[in-house]
Amino acid sequence: MAKYRIALMPGDGIGNDVMDAAQLVLDKLALDAEYVHADIGWEFWCQEGEPLPQRTLDTLKTCDCGLFAAITSKPKEEAEAELCPELQGQGLIYRSPIVRLRQTFDLYTNLRPCKAFKGNPLNYRDNIDMVVFRENTQGLYVGVEFHPLPDEVRAALKAHNDRMGVFDNVPGEDIAVSCRIFTRAGCRRIMRAAFEYAKTFGYPTVTVVEKPNVVRETSGMMVREARKIATDYPDIELWETNVDAMVMWMVKNPQDYGVMVASNMFGDIISDLAAQLVGGLGFAASGNIGDNLAVFEPTHGSAPKYAGQYKVNPTAMLLATKLMLDWLGETEMAQRLEAAIAAVIEEGKVRTYDMQGDASTLEMAQAIADRL
Ligand code: NAI
Ligand code: MG
Repeated sequence: MAKYRIALMPGDGIGNDVMDAAQLVLDKLALDAEYVHADIGWEFWCQEGEPLPQRTLDTLKTCDCGLFAAITSKPKEEAEAELCPELQGQGLIYRSPIVRLRQTFDLYTNLRPCKAFKGNPLNYRDNIDMVVFRENTQGLYVGVEFHPLPDEVRAALKAHNDRMGVFDNVPGEDIAVSCRIFTRAGCRRIMRAAFEYAKTFGYPTVTVVEKPNVVRETSGMMVREARKIATDYPDIELWETNVDAMVMWMVKNPQDYGVMVASNMFGDIISDLAAQLVGGLGFAASGNIGDNLAVFEPTHGSAPKYAGQYKVNPTAMLLATKLMLDWLGETEMAQRLEAAIAAVIEEGKVRTYDMQGDASTLEMAQAIADRL
């Protein structure tokens, strides 16, 4: 029996192209794993009315982790129109498979390392090595929202907070409320994950990125818990930064930062900025990590205009593969993979179009495999 069981979920469009690249590299690494294919994506929405079929959830339950590439999603009307005729008019609603995976398996950590590889013409600056930990299950994206605002919700809010009186003259129809919900346990576990990562990979600082001077209760809770957790890590410095200042610092002095940790929306924003500083979508990988399962993915989408052309950059997918190897505890293999990626980028002979090269997805993956 193989040591690991890994679900491969290529999904749609270039998801298939980059998954082929990952398989090529995994074969060369000879990871002791059994790979199982799992269905996900637009095709399954159209044919079955469900982009993340139950059988895929069942498969994932039998796996150590999943490697996912990319999916297509479309607005409501288009989604309905592309359903097969038998399924139309039944009120089926498209739900994001990634969000559902995060919720189903409580994948509370979204990990996004952003490293500037030497020689990458798309780097904003060299020497950037940031790792964003974004809380993935709570905060503003939790989905507790009201519009129109029901009278009983308004009354309850008003009974507990005078500020609500400011809106007395605004009809419910004209007010929308989205709740930003943090739990202490939620704050603690993302913070713990960030500090553990800093310790394992030798980062000297963890920066908590919030806004506690204004959003006192939620951001405040995150910062207070950060200070408590930090006492368990005397060798790592805790820095506290407001999110608005942080985006300025990230542009001005990105090389100063290491591990950063933030709640869901702030983490979403700073991780996209961090990714862009090191080359953008072709280089941005992420891990969705829970206590029992993790799913690794490039952050780009299915780029339909390049689907099946084997033209796009496989680096993001291969960096997702590297994160997976780290998570499995195969750190030596993970380091070798990252070193091979770095060497090929630095040498600059085999590059995809986004780096002004003319290599195909698989040629670049092969060049990386040859370096292993
Ligand atoms: P996208 O990420 O698919 O592509 C945008 C553009 O970025 C591409 O046209 C291409 O120029 C460039 N690009 C993306 N990946 C690249 C790579 N590996 N190498 C080089 N260049 C790359 O985003 P878009 O066009 O907004 O969305 C297309 C579809 O993907 C939509 O259906 C969207 O809903 C879905 N999507 C899925 C995501 C996921 O699976 N996690 C994330 C983002 C979008
Ligand atoms: Mg985002």
